[in-house]
Amino acid sequence: MNRRTTRTLAAALSLTAALAISGCSSDSADSSGADGEKPELTVSGAFMPEPVNDKMAGAFMVIKNGSKIADKLTGVTSPLSDDLQIHETKDQKMQQVQSLDVPANGELKLARGGDHVMFMGLKNKPAVGDKVTVELRFEKAGPVKVEVEVKERTYNAENSNAH
Ligand code: CU
Repeated sequence: MNRRTTRTLAAALSLTAALAISGCSSDSADSSGADGEKPELTVSGAFMPEPVNDKMAGAFMVIKNGSKIADKLTGVTSPLSDDLQIHETKDQKMQQVQSLDVPANGELKLARGGDHVMFMGLKNKPAVGDKVTVELRFEKAGPVKVEVEVKERTYNAENSNAH
């Protein structure tokens, strides 16, 4: 009984040693790559023009990537709607896309007439001054929570810089 315990222990110890060695070598291989590094994203100027009805609404913002790692916006969620889509505008018609690029050391601009976040079906119709919480999901960066401010229908972020 005593001898068997010793043998099992010895086997376990040698297994642990083998694992430690292989774990160590794979660690050093990984750390030479960009693995584990995450893009740093900041979001500014998020707004939603006051929706006309409770069927749909668009949201616009600028997502800045201050890192050398390119990322992608892959999804959006919000308590205001169960169906948020990522849209691009081509030939003045918008269509759903799976993702939008957030280039390294660059930005993804969601703006009127271009790429945007689309709420399909609103649980309630927000008014000017309300804030709508959305969570942006990215391929590499962790989720980013953004407060989207509801603005007048004619509001445009670009013009607001002037005042
Ligand atoms: Cu749209």
